[in-house]
Amino acid sequence: MRQILLGAGALALVASCFLAARDAVGEDPAAKPVAGIKDIMLAMNEGEHSIVGHLRTDFGGELDEDGWKVAKARATMLMEAANLLHGMKPPLGADDAAGLAKWKQHVMDYRGCADAAREAADKKDAAAGKAALMSLAKRCKECHADHRKEE
Ligand code: HEC
Repeated sequence: MRQILLGAGALALVASCFLAARDAVGEDPAAKPVAGIKDIMLAMNEGEHSIVGHLRTDFGGELDEDGWKVAKARATMLMEAANLLHGMKPPLGADDAAGLAKWKQHVMDYRGCADAAREAADKKDAAAGKAALMSLAKRCKECHADHRKEE
């Protein structure tokens, strides 16, 4: 009986934490989006420690079975980042329908390059992977020219 009561107490505590968290954000906390465009750029795209940076190293070296798997997962997450970007609004050049359509096109071009990198990793084709990253790198400037504000 004591154990049951203790169990019930613990459950109530967990439930109250959950409710408090839910009240704090007004919806299911696990599902609330938190990343902005800048977070995606810094984590995914910029520098040698980003996902793109790691992929460059992946396709530039010798990969074993696990290495190829990780490379594929990295490219997959770039595609997922594009899925997130697709639903966002950039700080420049997307105030009307035409601008927003342009933004989405840039995002889809970027996603296409990530898809090519993913396929290259799947086929263990380093040359194709490098080519995909080369065209991905061109997408940065093109999108920034239309949608990133000068600082
Ligand atoms: C689909 C469009 C798009 C693509 C593709 C894109 N970017 Fe961006 N990037 C943006 C936008 C928009 C911003 C500005 C975000 C803001 O100011 O809120 C930005 C900002 C940045 C920033 C500044 C982040 C900060 O903290 O201010 C860096 C760095 C960056 N991008 C790197 C890259 C690199 C590297 C690539 C290519 C591998 C890339 N981006 C591809 C749209 C894009």
